[in-house]
Amino acid sequence: MIPLIFLTSISTTEALFAHIGPYFRKLNMDESQEMARICGTLQFPSSQSPPFITPNFIEHLRTRVAKYPWAVSISLNGKNKLGGALISPYHVLTAAHGFLLYTSYYTKCSARGYKGMSEVKELDVSYGGVCIRGVDRKLPNHPFCTQPDVMRNKIRSVRVDVDFGRQHCNKGHDWAIVELEERVNFTEKVRPICLPYAGMKIGELLQVAGWGRTYVMSDSSPLLHEATMVHAPHCPRPENDFFPSKAPDMLCAVSQNTTDYWAPRTCHGDSGSGMQQRDADGRARLIALTSFGTPGCPADELARFTKIEPYLSEICQETGICYTLPDSTLSNNIPFRGKL
Ligand SMILES: *[C@@H]1O[C@H](CO)[C@@H](O)[C@H](O)[C@H]1NC(C)=O
Ligand SMILES: *[C@@H]1O[C@H](CO)[C@@H](O)[C@H](O)[C@H]1NC(C)=O
Repeated sequence: MIPLIFLTSISTTEALFAHIGPYFRKLNMDESQEMARICGTLQFPSSQSPPFITPNFIEHLRTRVAKYPWAVSISLNGKNKLGGALISPYHVLTAAHGFLLYTSYYTKCSARGYKGMSEVKELDVSYGGVCIRGVDRKLPNHPFCTQPDVMRNKIRSVRVDVDFGRQHCNKGHDWAIVELEERVNFTEKVRPICLPYAGMKIGELLQVAGWGRTYVMSDSSPLLHEATMVHAPHCPRPENDFFPSKAPDMLCAVSQNTTDYWAPRTCHGDSGSGMQQRDADGRARLIALTSFGTPGCPADELARFTKIEPYLSEICQETGICYTLPDSTLSNNIPFRGKL
């Protein structure tokens, strides 16, 4: 999550995506169909009351990964920078703003362009666990994270929606596709999330899972956190919030209790993290990606997310993941056939 920034110097060509790295490997139709079959399924119960420090607490933490097997952390030197959502064995959806180079970050979105491959290669992509690191002398620790329990991968290539920069970072388009170096092996802990289908109704309660701050002072937690956010279709901004909220692809949401300082909500570091909703079959669908909110993440923050539905055809073109498109030969509604 970042404050709003204004971009001044990105060239305006007609390309849809800025390319960092080589051409993507695309899924073929069979692989896309396989994604439709396995995506968003769960091996564990999805609703558990969250007991706080009790013997069940550790168990509760363990179920988090089972609830969000698509969640990834994109980190630099062990420190989470961006979240993301796994949608295929190669592809992760995340926010665009992590891949721009800003000359000034907090006051003005003045960017020099996009990050280069050498910078992108330094990032680690972690998934399949809840702790992205264990005990660390330099970074904050968490009593539960004595050692990392994630798998790691690297980034091979990135596509950033150029309209994010072209439209001064304030008209939406805050999304990007990351292609991973190594093909991900799906297990019960690592699973792609389903894309939404066109016209899918967005529910009231939406879950976000990421490695951002659990509250504003807790810098860079190693532990996955989750926040249930309440969809706010009319984007009611608190008085201290002057940022835009009306871009066509923006979804607004607030915490479940806007007067409770401790209410779980999205905060710095959650950018790019997926926002999910269960469909009628109980499968997780990726509704949106965390984009930005008020600096400091106050309890009444109106957080903004980038909806996925407007980009289904771009995602299909770039990645070959086409099962949600009506004109595809694949059905939206391929039933889930047993466990993997
Ligand atoms: C997936 O499994 C193959 C075969 O066991 C292994 O070589 C590869 O490294 C695994 N990929 C990842 C990203 O862990
Ligand atoms: C919201 O949080 C405040 C402060 O902790 C509390 O007094 C209030 O009862 C909560 N409201 C609800 C609906 O839980």
